Amino acid sequence: MRDKPLTILGIETSCDETAASVVRGRIPGPGEILSNIVFSQTEAHAPYGGVVPEIASRAHLEILDGIIERALGEAKITLPELDGIAVTAGPGLIGGVMVGLTTAKGLALAAGKPLIAVNHLMGHALTARLTHGVEFPFLLLLVSGGHCQLVGVGGTDDFRLYGSTIDDAVGEAFDKTAKILGLPYPGGPAVEEAARSGNPKAYDLPRPLLFRNSRGRDGADFSFSGLKTALRQLAQDQSVSVPDASASFQAAVIDILCDRSRFAMDLFRADFPDANTLVVAGGVAANQAIGAALARLCEAEDFILRVPPPRLCTDNAAMIAWAGVERLAAGAGGDDLAISPRARWPLALGRHTPPGAAP
Ligand code: KG4
Ligand code: ZN
Repeated sequence: MRDKPLTILGIETSCDETAASVVRGRIPGPGEILSNIVFSQTEAHAPYGGVVPEIASRAHLEILDGIIERALGEAKITLPELDGIAVTAGPGLIGGVMVGLTTAKGLALAAGKPLIAVNHLMGHALTARLTHGVEFPFLLLLVSGGHCQLVGVGGTDDFRLYGSTIDDAVGEAFDKTAKILGLPYPGGPAVEEAARSGNPKAYDLPRPLLFRNSRGRDGADFSFSGLKTALRQLAQDQSVSVPDASASFQAAVIDILCDRSRFAMDLFRADFPDANTLVVAGGVAANQAIGAALARLCEAEDFILRVPPPRLCTDNAAMIAWAGVERLAAGAGGDDLAISPRARWPLALGRHTPPGAAP
């Protein structure tokens, strides 16, 4: 392990945020965020109610250079002063990932610095080490627009999948709910806001796969499609209250997340008897009501809860830069400049596999 802190430029373009950041740190953290520039393309996609891949990649291409210049400028760091350049190489929208990866390769080549190809999910997974210096192992609840997983994290190359969604991701469920209820895009923050003035018991919505439900399944898998269908049926009634429907939907999501997490805690304890930290990551971790419910669960189960601040839960490049710190500090070295972007790249099929390697 090295004593000298590493200074890494991170680049993120896998969805609809164009982001660059400079982070300095040593493991296990916390690290120092010297700059964190995030340009959200929300307005460009809002008329379509979701991310349009072609619009996203063109927007990344147009503004990424300027965002990187701003990140370096705010951090007062020049390219020669960097220890490496970390970039999201997947999973995500392939056009956007390609823009970021190509730019990073050019910079790495020009500056003679190692290129670190980062799995976007690993970025989310390790954020709590950047913000709180959380030690391995920890239980991770990863809840984003594309993913919903419970994972035991034993190290940067030890991810054990306890459960994942069998249909929609939880962020996707929030986004679809918003669309059904006529709320603006992106749906998560809009549903949370509407739910604030609603009654969570107003509508009786299903909680698919609940472990303690006699019809439920064993394991820590999630399902949200039944909830979405029930909500769509509810919304056909013109007199439905949007705040009440939002609050009832959010209450069902909370019940599902807490129940699955409780089950995963048992699996995690069996793997790591001395550990008791739950980390929540991904865009949905920005939801205050979900955070409060998980805090109650952790208190009851004798777990410590760590949730990064909202701006580091949603997509950003500081988490990618930090994953670069972790990879370099672990002695992994840089990746080959010939690597390809990956639209799909599971985090927890076992051990960390570099992009371009056989899945
Ligand atoms: O991690 P993220 O920024 O992008 C992905 O990698 O997917 O997550 C975006 C997702 C979206 O589905 C968004 O609606 C959801 O996170 N989200 C929220 C909240 N803020 C963002 N969901 C619920 N409550 C929120 N406050
Ligand atoms: Zn993400």
